Amino acid sequence: MTHTITLIPGDGIGPEVANATRRVVEASGVKVEWEVHNAGADVVEKTGTVLPDSVLESIRRNKVALKGPITTPIGKGFRSVNVTLRQELDLYANVRPIKSLPGIEPRFEGTDLVIVRENTEDLYAGLELMIMPGVAQSIKLITARSCTRICEYAFDYATRLDRKRVSVVHKANIMKLSDGLLLECFRQVAEKYPRIEPAEVIVDACAMQMVRNANKLDVIVTENLYGDILSDLGAGLVGGLGIVPGSNIGKVNAVFEAVHGSAPDIAGKGVANPTALVQSAVMMLHHLGEGDAAFRIERGLLALFAKGEKKTPDLGGSSSTDEFTDALCKMVA
Ligand code: NAI
Ligand code: MG
Repeated sequence: MTHTITLIPGDGIGPEVANATRRVVEASGVKVEWEVHNAGADVVEKTGTVLPDSVLESIRRNKVALKGPITTPIGKGFRSVNVTLRQELDLYANVRPIKSLPGIEPRFEGTDLVIVRENTEDLYAGLELMIMPGVAQSIKLITARSCTRICEYAFDYATRLDRKRVSVVHKANIMKLSDGLLLECFRQVAEKYPRIEPAEVIVDACAMQMVRNANKLDVIVTENLYGDILSDLGAGLVGGLGIVPGSNIGKVNAVFEAVHGSAPDIAGKGVANPTALVQSAVMMLHHLGEGDAAFRIERGLLALFAKGEKKTPDLGGSSSTDEFTDALCKMVA
């Protein structure tokens, strides 16, 4: 069967890692027809918008997309394309497995945790206004509907992947109503899953725990902003942003993308590490029911990292993106 997949290369290092990932997916033998669409600042001149309708239409038609990072201007300019995409397609669950690879010295041996981040609400939705000059307001909107469905997703995920514990990460001691609502929904959902151990961790303590002993954590379910911050922290534990994958999952559509951004500091230099997007593509292949192809790529990555010969500079090596990708394609084919 041929899968039609929307491919959004993105900007910065996006096209470099997207091209590499495309090659690896094709080397696995799976049949894919890519519908390439772009978004972000680069398309404004041609289309008049950062997120053309054709991008959303393509994803709605194919139900699956692989996406490179897209730059968001800081402090001014347009609203994040990434946030808009997640909201438009109601991709409510952002799943980010934080796992070490062989040949990369992790902070702790055997770290294997998963962050399930609510992906549509919270401060990250960017609902802001200037109340008066010198006074800005950011609105943290939290609904029981979204809290319940993200907690259900986390417990279902834990059940499916034979995980033992789901920890809700919150700050309900201070934000008693909004984070309190998440906690309340979590407790209700937890009752329906007696085989999974529920735990409650305050977000600052969670950050400390991740740095002191990340192996105590299993599945984390949390709000949008806390999940954003803790994912980069988690990436730092296992070798950095170059390797950590992610998926944005909705009831109908799914968009697979790495945790990292467009890395302007190394863009165009041919040294970006494509592993994070390749691992996101592995998640995508599992989602598409292409377990054999996913397994071939996973096995290739493990073997390549275990050999330790081809590493990009972010991991202390000197290989280019192409050299790494050539070696990986050989292992996968
Ligand atoms: P970043 O994740 O792009 O980069 C942080 C650091 O990690 C940089 O030193 C970069 O070189 C390194 N890095 C990231 N990915 C790497 C890779 N694959 N290989 C090697 N090194 C890698 O974060 P930053 O600089 O804060 O954000 C840059 C832009 O990306 C911003 O405009 C931000 O809004 C956007 N962004 C987009 C995301 C998305 O499209 N989903 C996610 C995160 C940020
Ligand atoms: Mg982030």
